Amino acid sequence: MTSTNEKTANEPGTGVQHSFPSVFSLENKIALITGGGSGIGLDMARCMIMAGAQVVITGRREAVLQEAKASLGEKAFYFVNDVTDLHGLEGLVQDVETQVGPIDILVNNAGINMKKPALEVTDEEFSRILQTNLHSVFSLTRACARNMVKRQSGSIIMISSMAAYYGLDRVVAYGSSKSGIEGMVRLLASEFSKFNVRVNAIAPGFIETNMMKTAMSSDPNRMAKALGRTPIGHFGKPEDIGWAAVFLASEAAKFITGISMPVDGGNSTGF
Ligand code: NAI
Repeated sequence: MTSTNEKTANEPGTGVQHSFPSVFSLENKIALITGGGSGIGLDMARCMIMAGAQVVITGRREAVLQEAKASLGEKAFYFVNDVTDLHGLEGLVQDVETQVGPIDILVNNAGINMKKPALEVTDEEFSRILQTNLHSVFSLTRACARNMVKRQSGSIIMISSMAAYYGLDRVVAYGSSKSGIEGMVRLLASEFSKFNVRVNAIAPGFIETNMMKTAMSSDPNRMAKALGRTPIGHFGKPEDIGWAAVFLASEAAKFITGISMPVDGGNSTGF
């Protein structure tokens, strides 16, 4: 039975199994979002809760997480965690699954940027960015996927960047880490698909968050260039990424795996 708002396409012969809007619903799902205390991660949590999920956010700063939880309400939980502490990630997954429930959706959102000419980037800086944006993503994905594979169900979402799509100057470490993410998505999708675990990336364009402000505020030329090649004519909001994540995590995207979906106001194709 469907409510008056819910349209079903279960007409004989169509073979359509799901109804609208429940095919987009995340009801009864649990999502883990790293770096969920601010920016894109926080709005992604908000969108997923609105879609019916329970959401666990992680981050390094308890006060920020507490404030985020207060604004998200009772379907939100938080765990203090630094994703670069690789040995702690199996334990994080165990704690979340014991205290909240099985993780259906993992969003590897935590990330750091560094804008610096390539010739000045030290090995330590390069490693630090790779550790946060790439290595920790693999380690946490492995920890979550172990259980998802056993349960034969799961959706993993990575956050890529325009820096993995085209040549942006002064972000060599960041762009390399995000290019690694693009490859990881394809490789893991081919390995996990037979277990009904999907792996996709969202590639945000320029989204108004602290990270973007830091990268752009002292560089009006870069800001004008980014906007100039965004056909929609304005920067994105964190919720634009949030709704895309809801879609990719939902049953509506059940045949989508191994892709990187730009959510960028046309930036990746703009002139
Ligand atoms: P943000 O700086 O507001 O949020 C990043 C979050 O990650 C923060 O909550 C931060 O505390 C957390 N984080 C950083 N290092 C961590 C660690 N070691 N352990 C746990 N948490 C950690 O930035 P924003 O913009 O919300 O970025 C979110 C994701 O989106 C990042 O992966 C970023 O690379 C990506 N992105 C953002 C774009 C933008 O225009 N804002 C464009 C393309 C990608």
